[in-house]
Amino acid sequence: MTQVLCPGSFDPPTLGHLDVIACAAAMFDRVTVAVVVNPDKSGMFTVAERIELLRTATASLPNVDIDSFDGLLVDYVRRGGFGALVKGLRGAGDADYEMQMAHMNAHLAGVRTVFIPCAPEHSFVSSSLVKQVARYGGDVASLVPASVAAALAGRLPASPRS
Ligand code: PNS
Repeated sequence: MTQVLCPGSFDPPTLGHLDVIACAAAMFDRVTVAVVVNPDKSGMFTVAERIELLRTATASLPNVDIDSFDGLLVDYVRRGGFGALVKGLRGAGDADYEMQMAHMNAHLAGVRTVFIPCAPEHSFVSSSLVKQVARYGGDVASLVPASVAAALAGRLPASPRS
Protein backbone atom coordinates (compact mmCIF):
# COMPACT_ATOMS: atom_id res chain seq x y z
CA MET A 1 0.00 0.00 0.00
CA THR A 2 1.41 3.37 -1.01
CA GLN A 3 0.69 6.00 1.57
CA VAL A 4 1.86 9.52 0.68
CA LEU A 5 1.97 12.83 2.47
CA CYS A 6 0.92 16.13 0.95
CA PRO A 7 2.15 18.88 3.33
CA GLY A 8 1.54 22.62 3.15
CA SER A 9 0.34 25.81 4.78
CA PHE A 10 -3.11 25.77 3.12
CA ASP A 11 -4.00 29.28 4.37
CA PRO A 12 -6.49 28.85 2.79
CA PRO A 13 -6.74 25.79 0.49
CA THR A 14 -7.25 26.76 -3.16
CA LEU A 15 -8.60 24.90 -6.20
CA GLY A 16 -4.94 24.45 -7.21
CA HIS A 17 -4.29 22.53 -3.97
CA LEU A 18 -7.48 20.52 -4.45
CA ASP A 19 -6.52 19.61 -8.01
CA VAL A 20 -3.16 18.23 -6.84
CA ILE A 21 -4.76 16.38 -3.89
CA ALA A 22 -7.37 14.80 -6.19
CA CYS A 23 -4.65 13.78 -8.64
CA ALA A 24 -2.60 12.20 -5.81
CA ALA A 25 -5.73 10.41 -4.54
CA ALA A 26 -6.17 8.84 -7.99
CA MET A 27 -2.52 7.71 -8.10
CA PHE A 28 -1.86 6.46 -4.56
CA ASP A 29 -3.71 4.21 -2.09
CA ARG A 30 -3.85 6.71 0.76
CA VAL A 31 -3.12 10.46 0.86
CA THR A 32 -2.61 12.38 4.09
CA VAL A 33 -2.87 16.14 3.68
CA ALA A 34 -1.06 17.78 6.59
CA VAL A 35 -1.24 21.43 7.62
CA VAL A 36 2.04 22.72 9.04
CA VAL A 37 1.79 24.42 12.42
CA ASN A 38 4.07 27.45 12.26
CA PRO A 39 4.15 29.26 15.62
CA ASP A 40 6.13 32.16 14.06
CA LYS A 41 3.52 32.88 11.39
CA SER A 42 -0.05 33.85 12.14
CA GLY A 43 -2.21 33.10 9.14
CA MET A 44 -5.66 34.33 8.22
CA PHE A 45 -7.10 30.97 9.31
CA THR A 46 -6.12 28.92 12.37
CA VAL A 47 -4.77 25.43 11.82
CA ALA A 48 -8.07 24.00 13.12
CA GLU A 49 -9.99 26.11 10.57
CA ARG A 50 -7.70 25.03 7.70
CA ILE A 51 -8.20 21.38 8.69
CA GLU A 52 -11.96 21.86 8.65
CA LEU A 53 -11.84 23.63 5.26
CA LEU A 54 -9.71 20.81 3.83
CA ARG A 55 -12.03 18.14 5.31
CA THR A 56 -15.04 19.76 3.67
CA ALA A 57 -13.28 20.22 0.33
CA THR A 58 -12.00 16.62 0.20
CA ALA A 59 -15.17 14.96 1.54
CA SER A 60 -15.75 13.19 -1.78
CA LEU A 61 -12.27 11.61 -1.76
CA PRO A 62 -12.48 8.54 0.51
CA ASN A 63 -8.73 7.79 0.54
CA VAL A 64 -7.74 11.29 1.72
CA ASP A 65 -7.36 12.21 5.36
CA ILE A 66 -6.42 15.52 6.94
CA ASP A 67 -3.98 16.10 9.78
CA SER A 68 -1.52 18.71 11.05
CA PHE A 69 2.07 18.58 12.24
CA ASP A 70 4.47 20.65 14.24
CA GLY A 71 8.24 20.68 13.75
CA LEU A 72 10.31 18.98 11.08
CA LEU A 73 8.43 17.42 8.21
CA VAL A 74 10.77 14.41 8.10
CA ASP A 75 9.98 13.54 11.74
CA TYR A 76 6.29 13.41 10.87
CA VAL A 77 7.13 11.33 7.77
CA ARG A 78 9.05 8.81 9.91
CA ARG A 79 6.25 8.60 12.50
CA GLY A 80 3.60 8.03 9.84
CA GLY A 81 5.63 5.67 7.67
CA PHE A 82 4.86 7.62 4.49
CA GLY A 83 6.37 6.25 1.28
CA ALA A 84 6.74 9.62 -0.46
CA LEU A 85 5.88 13.31 -0.32
CA VAL A 86 3.59 14.87 -2.91
CA LYS A 87 3.94 18.53 -3.89
CA GLY A 88 2.21 20.55 -6.59
CA LEU A 89 4.13 22.69 -9.05
CA ARG A 90 2.66 25.77 -10.74
CA GLY A 91 5.74 26.58 -12.77
CA ALA A 92 9.49 27.11 -12.81
CA GLY A 93 9.37 29.51 -9.85
CA ASP A 94 7.90 26.79 -7.62
CA ALA A 95 10.29 24.18 -9.00
CA ASP A 96 13.46 25.95 -7.77
CA TYR A 97 12.22 26.23 -4.20
CA GLU A 98 10.50 22.83 -4.14
CA MET A 99 13.55 21.00 -5.53
CA GLN A 100 15.68 22.44 -2.73
CA MET A 101 13.19 21.22 -0.10
CA ALA A 102 12.87 17.83 -1.84
CA HIS A 103 16.66 17.36 -1.76
CA MET A 104 16.82 18.41 1.90
CA ASN A 105 14.05 15.98 2.90
CA ALA A 106 15.72 13.18 0.91
CA HIS A 107 19.03 14.00 2.57
CA LEU A 108 17.53 14.04 6.08
CA ALA A 109 15.28 10.98 5.87
CA GLY A 110 15.64 9.32 2.48
CA VAL A 111 12.06 10.32 1.60
CA ARG A 112 11.55 11.21 -2.06
CA THR A 113 9.15 13.83 -3.43
CA VAL A 114 6.73 13.27 -6.29
CA PHE A 115 5.84 16.49 -8.13
CA ILE A 116 2.43 16.91 -9.71
CA PRO A 117 2.01 19.81 -12.13
CA CYS A 118 -1.16 21.69 -11.31
CA ALA A 119 -3.82 22.12 -13.99
CA PRO A 120 -2.90 25.12 -16.19
CA GLU A 121 -6.08 26.97 -15.22
CA HIS A 122 -4.80 27.11 -11.62
CA SER A 123 -1.19 28.02 -12.43
CA PHE A 124 -1.59 31.63 -11.28
CA VAL A 125 -3.48 30.82 -8.08
CA SER A 126 -1.81 31.17 -4.68
CA SER A 127 -3.25 31.38 -1.18
CA SER A 128 -1.67 34.79 -0.62
CA LEU A 129 -3.08 36.29 -3.84
CA VAL A 130 -6.50 34.82 -3.09
CA LYS A 131 -6.46 36.50 0.34
CA GLN A 132 -5.40 39.80 -1.23
CA VAL A 133 -8.16 39.67 -3.86
CA ALA A 134 -10.76 38.71 -1.23
CA ARG A 135 -9.60 41.44 1.16
CA TYR A 136 -10.35 44.09 -1.46
CA GLY A 137 -13.71 42.63 -2.34
CA GLY A 138 -12.67 40.78 -5.51
CA ASP A 139 -14.44 37.63 -6.68
CA VAL A 140 -12.60 34.46 -5.61
CA ALA A 141 -15.39 31.99 -6.45
CA SER A 142 -13.44 30.48 -9.35
CA LEU A 143 -10.22 30.19 -7.34
CA VAL A 144 -11.20 28.35 -4.14
CA PRO A 145 -13.72 25.70 -3.02
CA ALA A 146 -17.15 27.13 -2.13
CA SER A 147 -16.60 26.55 1.60
CA VAL A 148 -13.37 28.56 1.45
CA ALA A 149 -15.06 31.39 -0.48
CA ALA A 150 -17.71 31.54 2.26
CA ALA A 151 -15.07 31.50 5.00
CA LEU A 152 -13.16 34.31 3.28
CA ALA A 153 -16.33 36.37 2.95
CA GLY A 154 -16.88 35.91 6.69
CA ARG A 155 -13.44 37.42 7.39
CA LEU A 156 -14.01 40.61 5.46
CA PRO A 157 -14.93 43.80 7.26
CA ALA A 158 -18.63 44.56 6.75
CA SER A 159 -19.09 47.03 3.91
CA PRO A 160 -20.09 50.51 5.10
CA ARG A 161 -23.81 51.27 4.97
CA SER A 162 -24.81 54.00 2.60
O1 PNS B 1 2.48 25.42 1.45
P1 PNS B 1 3.92 25.76 1.75
O2 PNS B 1 4.00 26.93 2.69
O3 PNS B 1 4.76 25.94 0.52
O4 PNS B 1 4.50 24.47 2.52
C1 PNS B 1 5.83 24.45 2.99
C2 PNS B 1 6.04 23.29 3.98
C3 PNS B 1 5.02 23.33 5.10
C4 PNS B 1 5.91 21.98 3.25
C5 PNS B 1 7.48 23.45 4.55
O5 PNS B 1 7.63 24.75 5.05
C6 PNS B 1 7.80 22.45 5.67
O6 PNS B 1 8.04 21.29 5.38
N1 PNS B 1 7.79 22.93 6.94
C7 PNS B 1 8.06 22.10 8.09
C8 PNS B 1 9.47 22.39 8.67
C9 PNS B 1 10.52 21.65 7.86
O7 PNS B 1 10.60 20.45 7.84
N2 PNS B 1 11.38 22.44 7.19
C10 PNS B 1 12.42 21.91 6.31
C11 PNS B 1 11.86 21.67 4.91
S1 PNS B 1 13.09 21.09 3.80
